[in-house]
Amino acid sequence: MIKRTKIKDLLVTAPQGQSIVLMGWVRTFRNNQFISISDGSTILTIQAVVELDQFEESLLKRITTGACLSIKGKLVASPAKGQLVEVKVDELEVLGDSDPEKYPLQPKKHSFEFLREIAHLRPRTNTFGAVMRVRHAMAFAVHKFFNEKGFVYVNTPIITGSDAEGAGAMFRVTTFDPENPPRDEAGHVDHSQDFFGRETNLTVSGQLEGESYAMGLGEIYTFGPTFRAENSNTTRHLAEFWMIEPEMAFYDINDNMDLAQEMLQYLMKYALEHCGDDLAFLDKRASDEEMTKPQAQRNELGLIDRIKFIIENDFQRLTYTEAIEILRNSTPNKKKKFQYIIEQWGADLQSEHERFLVEKHFKKPVILYNYPKEIKSFYMRQNDDGKTVGAMDVLFPGIGEIIGGSAREERYDKLLTRINEMGLPEEDLKWYIELRKFGSAPHSGFGLGFERLILFVTGMTNIRDVIPFPRFPGNAEF
Ligand code: 4AD
Ligand code: MG
Repeated sequence: MIKRTKIKDLLVTAPQGQSIVLMGWVRTFRNNQFISISDGSTILTIQAVVELDQFEESLLKRITTGACLSIKGKLVASPAKGQLVEVKVDELEVLGDSDPEKYPLQPKKHSFEFLREIAHLRPRTNTFGAVMRVRHAMAFAVHKFFNEKGFVYVNTPIITGSDAEGAGAMFRVTTFDPENPPRDEAGHVDHSQDFFGRETNLTVSGQLEGESYAMGLGEIYTFGPTFRAENSNTTRHLAEFWMIEPEMAFYDINDNMDLAQEMLQYLMKYALEHCGDDLAFLDKRASDEEMTKPQAQRNELGLIDRIKFIIENDFQRLTYTEAIEILRNSTPNKKKKFQYIIEQWGADLQSEHERFLVEKHFKKPVILYNYPKEIKSFYMRQNDDGKTVGAMDVLFPGIGEIIGGSAREERYDKLLTRINEMGLPEEDLKWYIELRKFGSAPHSGFGLGFERLILFVTGMTNIRDVIPFPRFPGNAEF
């Protein structure tokens, strides 16, 4: 095939009548003359111009919204407003026709609900193109950030034998015939005959395996898919999502908080520096959406300003105990506006509470730390007060929890006691506990929900619209 030039590059090339090849999809075709074409390399389209009698009517009829074209032509200065260059068409071939009656993406606004039903075609829209380019840039920046700091990228398993992380309900992995699984004498399903000789699940987190690598390599991170079988039908939850989990030897909880803030600010900066066109488009899209809301519910800051705000402000750090006091005395709590009223220390925080702290009280990102041990995982480092653990959650405006992490319990006896207190299967966790027996070290880590990060950076409002093919209760199409 002849080498094409991407629109992104054509748009910044000086037009000198040079020959170029352009390939892409038709957005609109006006007056049998002006074809607006996109190829995914940028949010911007390029205009290709055909002369009035240049082509047969039968060919012109095939230039419809959604059709795929290959064009040979010349790059020339454009007389039209708002574009520096355009393509004067010499040869035109329709690579793929698109029936205009049936093509579901018309040049008009479609609802995101509708676009989710045609998730195989939505990458052709401006919004999804922009979101996916930003998503790519953020994934790249995550690797760049950790690489610059000397962290080692570790791939932890997706199929796991341990179901004790406690982060959520799991999806089973089996090769058994569901109608007729082998059974033991007592009539129970006999997992010893299954593919792995035991029960297995899709992982909810790579953390535990990540810890074992941090105990040899020092500083590592994972970046992979994780799975949770909870019935959470919200705009913040997916059944399959991607998580970034750094794990660091010799970090205490303060070092952990420092790293979380540094990473998030680095990612925001990277987005501003590398995704300008897409963010400008998404900023406008988000503010148009804001205008449909009642004034009192509108965001005071636009998308780009919200990103800048994260870069320019230290995150507010406070303990769970301090947060409970603020929440207990808050107006929505007293007026019973919260769905879950905060009555006493020990209460689990809901996203409405997290968002109150971030959006109303402090008006900046918040890191809450030292949570009651009862509402947190077994592996979190126990504080001297006997009541709290060294957990830390980073809370973002509009999102709530974006990062969850902790200092890890590195003391053998304390960890074992906690595992038994909580009635967790010691046998399954043997290897994890053993890490505390041979050269244990203080260490910490956290998990950043990648889609929640993308929600924030793109200003989208539903997590189902920032991952190519969302999986959520009742939906695994495509
Ligand atoms: O707070 P979580 O459950 O923490 C862990 O899994 C730890 N093992 C992380 C660690 O310390 N290494 O999840 C971490 C983050 C959350 O803060 C949230 O951003 C995201 O993962 N997350 C989800 N994102 C989308 N859909 C879901 N169902 C999510 N559950 C958690
Ligand atoms: Mg959490």
